[in-house]
Amino acid sequence: MPESPVQELEELPPDAAIAADHRNPRRRNRQMQREEEPEVGTLVHAESRHELASLILHRGVKQQILDGLRAIRIRDQLEEVWSISRLQPQQGRCILNFYGPPGTGKTRAALATAHKIGQPLYQVDYSTVISKYLGDTAKHIKLAFERATHHGAALFLDEADSLLSKRVSLGESCATSINQNRNTLMQELDRFEGVVILTTNLFGNYDDALLRRVQRHIQFRLPNLSMRRELFALHLPNPERVKANLRTLAAQSRGLSGGDILNICLNAIHAGSRDPDPAKWMVTEKLLMREIRRAKAAKEKHGGKAGNRRRIGFNA
Ligand SMILES: Nc1ncnc2c1ncn2[C@@H]1O[C@H](COP(=O)(O)OP(=O)(O)O)[C@@H](O)[C@H]1O
Ligand SMILES: [Mg+2]
Repeated sequence: MPESPVQELEELPPDAAIAADHRNPRRRNRQMQREEEPEVGTLVHAESRHELASLILHRGVKQQILDGLRAIRIRDQLEEVWSISRLQPQQGRCILNFYGPPGTGKTRAALATAHKIGQPLYQVDYSTVISKYLGDTAKHIKLAFERATHHGAALFLDEADSLLSKRVSLGESCATSINQNRNTLMQELDRFEGVVILTTNLFGNYDDALLRRVQRHIQFRLPNLSMRRELFALHLPNPERVKANLRTLAAQSRGLSGGDILNICLNAIHAGSRDPDPAKWMVTEKLLMREIRRAKAAKEKHGGKAGNRRRIGFNA
């Protein structure tokens, strides 16, 4: 019996107060220095189309995200009743780890989380953070946390395993600097008073020190039959122009992800919009089935692996 996506959720209001709580009053003093510093990330603002409700996830996943955020929202009460700061001194900190196969909505869920808490995401750019100059990487890591604090943003480490894979144990100076960078990262994570979101396809590669710091690991799985049908409906937004049975498409796309379904729909839309007269544009089942077959063939070619992902971490 396929699971249906979660229907009833405990709703949290988009809470600007959460954003305000994590702002550092000292951040203004940094403004002057920032001119000379490299940009180590991008500020991403979530839009209303990114809201959690627009994601099609397995039962319980949205609630797990909301539970993680709720812990921050009600921390005053948690302190009063449970003296929670003795257990978790970092008051506002909440590290969420979204893990699972590519295309299952982890990056989208990070945006949805940002939308929910009323904060932008500060998405760390690993290619700038990792420097070939000794000592610069640690500086850049600190800078990323400062920037996130300055912007009142959640720190976002997308595909974090490329930065956070296990410590190396080479007896060389480069290993020392790699481990120093990791230590800096752990210290900054401990100091940071906001929300940190990590995503990964390769959870097994995480460093143990990081694993200990994550409050919630939230698993994203491939969609089941009814979710795939919803994903087709979501990504074919004009039903009047769609001549296809979505149930059939869902049944034929077993093993494909939401990201695959997005690409299938986009390709079919382009193929169905070739006539010079836009009034004749139409997406047919035949076009969609062709794209499903292509997507499956491409997946099989990669043997179900995540594909050739970037490796630009400390170990690179
Ligand atoms: N669970 C989902 N619900 C709705 N859309 C999804 C979902 N998973 C993937 N998608 C679609 O695929 C796109 C890529 O998903 P993404 O969040 O980048 O996946 P991931 O980060 O897990 O690789 C999204 O922008 C969305 O259009
Ligand atoms: Mg992603």
